[in-house]
Amino acid sequence: MTTIGIVGAGTMGAEIALVAALAGMDVLLADADRERAEAGRARALATGARLAERGRRDPADVEACAGRIHAVDGIAALAPAGIVIEAVPEDLALKARVHEQIDAAVAHDALVATNTSGLSVTALADGTSSPGRLVGLHFFNPAATMQLVEVIAGAATTEDTVAGALALAADLGKTPVRVRECPGFVVNRVLVRAMAEAFRAAAGAPVDRHAADRTVVDGGPAPMGPFALGDLVGLDVLESIRSDLEAAYGDRFADAGTLAPLVAQGHLGRKSGAGLVPAAEGATTGTEPVVAAVYYAAAMDEARRLADEGVASPSDIDLAMRLGAGWSDGPLAAG
Ligand SMILES: NC(=O)c1ccc[n+]([C@@H]2O[C@H](COP(=O)([O-])OP(=O)(O)OC[C@H]3O[C@@H](n4cnc5c(N)ncnc54)[C@H](O)[C@@H]3O)[C@@H](O)[C@H]2O)c1
Repeated sequence: MTTIGIVGAGTMGAEIALVAALAGMDVLLADADRERAEAGRARALATGARLAERGRRDPADVEACAGRIHAVDGIAALAPAGIVIEAVPEDLALKARVHEQIDAAVAHDALVATNTSGLSVTALADGTSSPGRLVGLHFFNPAATMQLVEVIAGAATTEDTVAGALALAADLGKTPVRVRECPGFVVNRVLVRAMAEAFRAAAGAPVDRHAADRTVVDGGPAPMGPFALGDLVGLDVLESIRSDLEAAYGDRFADAGTLAPLVAQGHLGRKSGAGLVPAAEGATTGTEPVVAAVYYAAAMDEARRLADEGVASPSDIDLAMRLGAGWSDGPLAAG
């Protein structure tokens, strides 16, 4: 039986542990201490029980997970794992320290993955003893239900490692998409570009944000408009990704100062109760269709850039947007 180690038993690590256990793997779950690893194990099993209750998983399969997920005492206990997935917080220095410990703990031929949503796999690999075996495995939240995994090849990642990561994602019941590393990868790059452009268009004219979101949903393949999506993701998380992408790619990711002041006031979207979408609907102004058109044009432009740069194949870009962002059709097929 495959033994998989997971480091970081938080939001993502706990659900990835569940996914691996449901796929029949033996899971060693490590966190900063045993207590947190146990808490992650309990959350993984609770998520499994909820999925069984809703009829989305076979209750017997979920029950079997209790015997497969083992909370362990730290990274050193991952020695038996042939595969390790790191899911500690998004901080390069912290992740670098954790990868040093993983390197010291596991066999030289183990596959090591990071679930980073935006850090450079290449930079992280630089600090490890075996940069060729490190790969990005970007699961989407909630990992137990989201089908997409972006497999990120850094500059040093070997072909064998990429092949191993693609096979692992498939073994976990996910649909992998191969991505050559770039800031934002595929889904975040397309979505955040489209959102930033929509925010810029809306900043220049009065807009009813409810109506603008509705126009996006009614007029194209996205399941949600940019304002509601921002509130769902969390404006602090979105602003951190957006500002990194603006630093990487320039003005096309600028948002005319839409997000930063809201974040400074503690208006973070759904989790804080206030965000981009006001509680009450206002009067439409006629600008809403412009915002929607800008949103889709920007998504298509960014998707074309990804394809032209060879970051991913056009069909994989569309697949990633369908499975990772819930679009009914990919931006390249729709364009
Ligand atoms: N939450 C999301 O929506 C999401 C989606 C995709 C990817 N990601 C990425 O997944 C990673 C984890 O995010 P998360 O939301 O699960 O974070 P989280 O804060 O919920 O969980 C992180 C876990 O790592 C543990 N940890 C901290 N330092 C550690 C150490 N030195 N050794 C072992 N464990 C340690 C923490 O105790 C915590 O349990 C990040 O890189 C994030 O960018 C998150």
